[in-house]
Amino acid sequence: MKEPSYKERQEEAISRAREIIAKLSAEKGRPLYANITTFGCQMNARDSEKLRGILREVGYVDTENEDAADIVIYNTCTVRENADMHVYGRLGHMNGVKKKNPDLIMGLCGCMMQEPHVVEKIRKSYPFVNLVFGTHNLADFPELLLRVLSDKKRVIAIEEKTTTLPEDMPVKRKYSFKSGVNIMYGCNNFCTYCIVPYVRGREMSRRAGDIISECERLAADGVVEVMLLGQNVNSYGKGIDDFISFPDLLRRVCQVEGIERVRFMTSHPKDLSDDLIEAIAENPKVMRHLHLPVQSGSTEVLRRMNRHYDRDQYLALVRKIRERIPVISLTTDIIVGFPGETDEQFEDTLSLVREVGYDSAFTFIYSKRTGTPAAKYPDQVPDDVAHARFDRLLAAVKEGADKACARFEGQVMDVLVEEENKQPGLMTGRISQNIVVHLPGNKSMIGKILPVRMKECKGFYYMGEPV
Ligand code: 5AD
Ligand code: SF4
Repeated sequence: MKEPSYKERQEEAISRAREIIAKLSAEKGRPLYANITTFGCQMNARDSEKLRGILREVGYVDTENEDAADIVIYNTCTVRENADMHVYGRLGHMNGVKKKNPDLIMGLCGCMMQEPHVVEKIRKSYPFVNLVFGTHNLADFPELLLRVLSDKKRVIAIEEKTTTLPEDMPVKRKYSFKSGVNIMYGCNNFCTYCIVPYVRGREMSRRAGDIISECERLAADGVVEVMLLGQNVNSYGKGIDDFISFPDLLRRVCQVEGIERVRFMTSHPKDLSDDLIEAIAENPKVMRHLHLPVQSGSTEVLRRMNRHYDRDQYLALVRKIRERIPVISLTTDIIVGFPGETDEQFEDTLSLVREVGYDSAFTFIYSKRTGTPAAKYPDQVPDDVAHARFDRLLAAVKEGADKACARFEGQVMDVLVEEENKQPGLMTGRISQNIVVHLPGNKSMIGKILPVRMKECKGFYYMGEPV
């Protein structure tokens, strides 16, 4: 007999898991509930949608209440130390929950699990965790889940690299009308502070044909906005046969009927091409927003971060983008307290932030990640100094953002309505620039793109009025 293919094996695992869940559910006289918590970035969020898709396929029902769930999964992040601490804290709580419900399946996956010291700690100190897997074997989730369900033994499965991309997995999206689409996995950039290349592995692109087919399927399923995901989308296509340049991929995705909005994340400032700027400019479906992580405004710090651009090159790039696409919004990531960062070098970051005037910025205090080059750099910046710099940076970002955000006041702009606001009678959506708008309305507007007057800017968001 022919060996079953990878896909056939997963399908078989799903159908056997489904039988077990149906039996358990009959015994308990209620559905079995699942809860996934996602830590970290958009990549993890998309991975969680795939896990949720499998859980739903085998018969679990989603619940928001973690303590009442029959399977709980933490999809972890390890980019900064406090993300790790958060997971350990939550596990302490789940230990208590498991004592009351011994049938609970506790699963851990994601970037933290690619660090051997973490897995060792889980092995030793968290015996109640039943399932541990990493970033390279997400596609094996059906088989791993079946092993836990049928053997009732703890399953720890970590791979060194990806052999099978998580293609064609059933997916349960958080939003019916928008979706992330992975175009590549991993990172080859080795910024000296960053753990991602170690836990996500080398860059691997998906075939262009597969990406376009996925977008077509999503459009047929009601998706109007896609976010193309990669650690550095500019280097999309390396090492595969069926690829086109990232700007051409963007153009192709725009041609998919039904897809009205295209976003992408992240484009590294070191190799953002003129053709990409052109592809955005010429295509109204590509949203007017670029996330352009600068990390520092000091050329010397950027060199030690291994970012491959300097302050002047970054500022020149910003000017070039704004010249071609004046309405674009720019956001960024910034790290303060990188090892050896002097007061003067920090001032360079402040002055760059003031010069660019970002629409918003994610600001981070440098977190030492064991195994990265920067962890061994001398002159680690004391906590109190880093915190003081962080506060000043936040104030500078806010000042620029208030001004930048307000520039659309009075204009009528297209808003994709995304969800109900906590405040009754209000809906929340986003304009092309990714700025949030609250507007009066009801649930029937969700997923629609509507013209809205930007009545009043409230700092980083707008109050709007449908026209
Ligand atoms: N410490 C602080 N911030 C970090 N980032 C990545 N690694 C670290 C670290 N060790 C930030 C960078 C990156 C964002 C996703 O997280 O700014 O762009
Ligand atoms: Fe980390 Fe740099 Fe890769 Fe981004 S580009 S994931 S910051 S190594």
